[in-house]
Amino acid sequence: MSFEINSKVKILEQPQTIALNAIAERLKNEGKDIVNMVLGEPDFATPKKIIDAATKSMNDGFTHYVSSMGLPELRRKIADKLRDTNNVSYDTAEIIVTPSAKFAIYLALTAFLNDGDEVLILDPSWVSYKALVQLAGATPISVALDYESNYTLTVAQLEKQLTPRTRMIILNTPNNPTGRVFSAEENRILVDFIKEHDLLAVCDEIYESIVFDHHQHVSLASFPEIKANVITVNGFSKSHAMTGWRIGYLAADKKLIAEMLKVQMQVVTCTASFVQAAAITAFDCAAEVASMVAQYRERRDYLVEALNTIPGFHCRPPEGTFYALPRIDYKGMNSDELSAFILENAQVLLTPGSAYGRGTEKTLRISYATSIEKIEEAIKRLRKIFV
Ligand SMILES: Cc1ncc(COP(=O)(O)O)c(C=O)c1O
Repeated sequence: MSFEINSKVKILEQPQTIALNAIAERLKNEGKDIVNMVLGEPDFATPKKIIDAATKSMNDGFTHYVSSMGLPELRRKIADKLRDTNNVSYDTAEIIVTPSAKFAIYLALTAFLNDGDEVLILDPSWVSYKALVQLAGATPISVALDYESNYTLTVAQLEKQLTPRTRMIILNTPNNPTGRVFSAEENRILVDFIKEHDLLAVCDEIYESIVFDHHQHVSLASFPEIKANVITVNGFSKSHAMTGWRIGYLAADKKLIAEMLKVQMQVVTCTASFVQAAAITAFDCAAEVASMVAQYRERRDYLVEALNTIPGFHCRPPEGTFYALPRIDYKGMNSDELSAFILENAQVLLTPGSAYGRGTEKTLRISYATSIEKIEEAIKRLRKIFV
């Protein structure tokens, strides 16, 4: 059977980590035990209240199609949360519940990008942004932030990549993989830039609850001068350890909502009914979320301090998320070489920074969404090979 691959699919790159996975597979077959620190999901169980609510909902027969916008009660809870936590007022008619934050981003890109449009992505960045932009037929343009400045954003970096075809900017704070949280100064730069060039801004706030020290997450939609330009994306995967449930949401101006809703209706109809019913309970889980964040903080503190005692390692404390992105100076190795070297010799699986685009030379992403015992074991193994 012969077939033509869709040109937008054809250009999607294979995940950078294929070679690494092959080494991991071989080591496993040799009976070696690997400490896996690549996973981008909480190691905690979903809070029991949420599971009970889902079970009850299914037992009550709430297992059919629901509105494409999402359950009104859930949208009410989301609107209240956006008002109380993020200082931004959205009507329930300005919120769509989506099957994941990733799908919310897909809706935004599909609804508002045309072939040839350019989308600014601040690198290092989560791997899916580029691919989703390409699937929408547009061109991802990397705005490279750099390690030396701790990935601090400047106007010059943004302006350098601006062209008459720039339509959109995708922003992620707290950031995967850098762990940075935009400062007040960076938010100001972004607000002015978005306003001046009248860009659509897709703001991915999926890690907003995981913030440490004095850092503060601020929603760009809370700046009235650009609220109409912003599509706020969020979800429950990271905050409530609900990665497998596939539920997220977006909030935006009604005119934008109408277009994204068309796509949602035609592609998935709605987000799973009982998953939405369960997510209503997520808003009663403040204590559970706080407990997870406290444990991430403890792990972060241990990990960062320990990494900085290993020769060649330089690790800044992540300001948010459950990722650290240390740089390693070792025999001139780049990030792919370092991750392969560590996996082969210490059986610790880390993601090469190269997977996240520019500004990642010699860096590795370490997920500390894993037990402190595993983190300690990883450190022990790393100490043995970097002497
Ligand atoms: C920055 C970022 N956005 C979105 C997602 C995906 O969220 P969801 O599980 O809701 O699709 C991830 C998952 O790794 C992520 O790192």
